[in-house]
Amino acid sequence: MKQPTAAPSEPHLFVILGVTGDLAERKLLPAFYHVTRQHGCEGDSFLLGVGRRTWSDGEFRERTKPALARSGIRGDELEEWCDDHVFFHGVENYDAPGGFKSLRERIESIERDCGLPQNRIYYLALPPEAFSTTVTGLGESGLAHGNGWSRLVIEKPFGRDLDTAQALDATIHRYFSEEQIYRIDHYLGKTTVQNMLVFRFANGLFEPLWNRDRISRIEVTVGEDLGVGTRAGYYESAGALRDMVQNHILQLISLVAMEPPTAFEADAIRSEKVKVVRSITEISHDDVVLGQYSAGRVNGEEVPGYSEEPKVAANSQTETYAALRLQVDTWRWHGVPFYVRTGKRLPERTTKIAIVFREAPLPLFRAFQTEPTPNVLVISIQPNEGFDLFFEVKTPDRSFKLDTKRLTFRYHEQFGRIPEAYETLIADVVAGDQTLFVHTDEVDASWRLLTPLLNNKPAVRRYEAGRWGPDEIYHLLPDWSDFCLTESDTTANGGVS
Ligand code: BG6
Repeated sequence: MKQPTAAPSEPHLFVILGVTGDLAERKLLPAFYHVTRQHGCEGDSFLLGVGRRTWSDGEFRERTKPALARSGIRGDELEEWCDDHVFFHGVENYDAPGGFKSLRERIESIERDCGLPQNRIYYLALPPEAFSTTVTGLGESGLAHGNGWSRLVIEKPFGRDLDTAQALDATIHRYFSEEQIYRIDHYLGKTTVQNMLVFRFANGLFEPLWNRDRISRIEVTVGEDLGVGTRAGYYESAGALRDMVQNHILQLISLVAMEPPTAFEADAIRSEKVKVVRSITEISHDDVVLGQYSAGRVNGEEVPGYSEEPKVAANSQTETYAALRLQVDTWRWHGVPFYVRTGKRLPERTTKIAIVFREAPLPLFRAFQTEPTPNVLVISIQPNEGFDLFFEVKTPDRSFKLDTKRLTFRYHEQFGRIPEAYETLIADVVAGDQTLFVHTDEVDASWRLLTPLLNNKPAVRRYEAGRWGPDEIYHLLPDWSDFCLTESDTTANGGVS
């Protein structure tokens, strides 16, 4: 979990399979550039893009430059870096016979020309259908092991249920050992997500409160204002449970609920995280609300409903929203519900975790307040990364009045630029640090939990785009901490600031 500036780096070839896609252009190319530049090893590490095009190295470089510029990277150094460090290899198809033999020849020839040891990172930025054949191709052509190290980075979704995830894992393990595999969940690269460990385990203040005696419930909200956009081809068969809950949300819950690890090391941390997922009890229909957005207004604009989006079936039953009540049945958390909600086309993009503390035992001030108010700690994963602690104060008025105020910490105010999640994660792959990557046991535990629900989903309700979800979520929890979500502070619960 080292930061890009601190991670050691050995010269290597970074191979992006699927380099012509959106992920490579928006995230991976800029992240690799930053990582190699910040390590001061740009003379040593090189990038090979692999894609189903017939581009020359020159053509790919001319496409890479504007892609990097769009992410804010500028200057003569960028031109030079691309001309000297970037290569392209075209494949007809990822399962074409001989495709990986020619890839191997290309990799070896770049390594010879650039004086590189056989240190290789293979990043699968591919559609999930291509994962198995690509891993098999790499393995069968002898690319999984060279004279140096070889690492495989694999994007989500890792399978679509327990069986498919296990089958994919078996294929990968035929060629790569667990130490070589980096399963990406980009949420783990977010600074605030990593900070959860520091917040909990480096501050003596909170840990004694972090249990069923002091906390009444925990809420995780991952809201997006965007709709499904151009990704319906994938999303139609995924839905919110697979797309967000199985991975990002269970990772957030693991970090909030885990026991202190015995050491700050990948294995120790990941084994505590997996225990959390294994302790979540079976999810019944009463604990779930699924929804799909219908037309509405988001950020002042009219937007179509999900079923009117391109490539979506008119009668689609895919959920774009999921709310769940989970029970982490451990000594620490027994009886504390974890409420989760995630959806597309909600009022805003926000990822927050609200820790709702038990109220003060004696309602001494009942005469001055309508309702007793719990303290709430809100960890803001994005945007405006940081946290807020809500607490009660007496107003200066002559009459005795209470008001809720917040203590606030914001990353950008204290530290300026926060590295992009992908930058952190790629730096860690380069450094060989697996702490922020998902272990096979975590994948297995999360699919074990969700597969029965996926095989027997409750009805999908409708919600108007621009609302916080279907009305049924208020049966699950009547008072979601909506007031904690906005920076403007003045929604529900009135006048919090
Ligand atoms: C991805 C999902 O993993 O995460 C997308 O596939 C989602 O559907 C995205 O939009 C959200 O990521 P972030 O970093 O914008 O919260």
